[in-house]
Amino acid sequence: MQKFLNKIICGDCIEVLGKVRRPFADLIFADPPFNIGYKYDKYNDKQKHDSYVAWTKDWMTICKKVLKPHGSFYIAICDEYAADVKIIADELGLFMRNWLIWHYSFGQQMKNKFARSHTHIFYFVKDKINFTFNDDTARIISDRQKRYRDKRANPEGKMPDDVWDEYPRVCGTFEERTDFPCQMPESLLARIIRASSNEGDWVLDPFSGSGTTAVVAAKLNRKYTGIELSSQYAKESQKRIERCKGLAIEGEGKRKWTEQMNQELKWLYHENKVPTEQLRDDPSLLALFTDKFNKRIGEVENAFQPTQVIRHLIQMRKSAKLGPLRGQPISRKSQNSDVEVTL
Ligand SMILES: C[S@@+](CC[C@H](N)C(=O)[O-])C[C@H]1O[C@@H](n2cnc3c(N)ncnc32)[C@H](O)[C@@H]1O
Repeated sequence: MQKFLNKIICGDCIEVLGKVRRPFADLIFADPPFNIGYKYDKYNDKQKHDSYVAWTKDWMTICKKVLKPHGSFYIAICDEYAADVKIIADELGLFMRNWLIWHYSFGQQMKNKFARSHTHIFYFVKDKINFTFNDDTARIISDRQKRYRDKRANPEGKMPDDVWDEYPRVCGTFEERTDFPCQMPESLLARIIRASSNEGDWVLDPFSGSGTTAVVAAKLNRKYTGIELSSQYAKESQKRIERCKGLAIEGEGKRKWTEQMNQELKWLYHENKVPTEQLRDDPSLLALFTDKFNKRIGEVENAFQPTQVIRHLIQMRKSAKLGPLRGQPISRKSQNSDVEVTL
């Protein structure tokens, strides 16, 4: 398996994985083409319904074979084929743990129907009892903690809902955007990889595209393998991974705000949805938020202090690096703040 280790392999995932004898992946994240006529470099995204479903069954079967017994298998899919994926997974004996909805902003506008603004993400496991799930990496500050100051609140926070609305689609203006058309947000992959794998585990993406899964796996100290049909995409994503290695080394300077730290802070802010004013004015909330941030970036001994975090957050907000929070209820306090309110 060494030849797969930390590589983007150019090839057809069914052929490449078909040659593998032993299960090696602890976590698989698959974001296949959705058969909606997308213009990819090599792949023709307009198949007949039945042949697309048959092909889906083929790659899901191969993926299940290379998944370790305790492994997790996430599949992103559109409305048109979500039911087929679920039926195939049942036939293969996979256990569904969540049927997640990724509700994103910047949905595609359409003239004659409502804008498409979600993707299904299935979360399956091979063994319904024995699997990795690091709930502490995903917990967010609950309403009981941030709004009601309820003493019964779990001090570790609450698990996020199964509808995820904190990750916008990667638009052309975003820093992380590559030239690739349908790139997944790194922050979304980070939640999945942290929750369903441990450091040193092996993460596989059979439809690697721009290499988002591999990039995030590398940043989080996991092994990775990406498989991609297009040699151009494979080459570009390998370069993207090299660039991210540089970022990780930069993180050695402890008190410097590295790009990675900025990114983590921004993700955490959008996941927890506590406006900066509220964090500034509420020491216990800020302490919770700071604690979560330090855990995310693996800082224990040289942890950031709440004052450093709030100062930096406010700076990032002023320089428009944070972006508005989505979907918070309007309140007197939240007017003219960093909350985006839809009226
Ligand atoms: C939806 S994109 C994946 C995007 C990816 N999640 C990202 O964030 O960049 C699907 C990718 O699968 C690739 N692909 C299609 N058929 C494939 C196959 N049989 N084996 C490997 N890759 C394939 C396409 O070229 C395309 O890049």
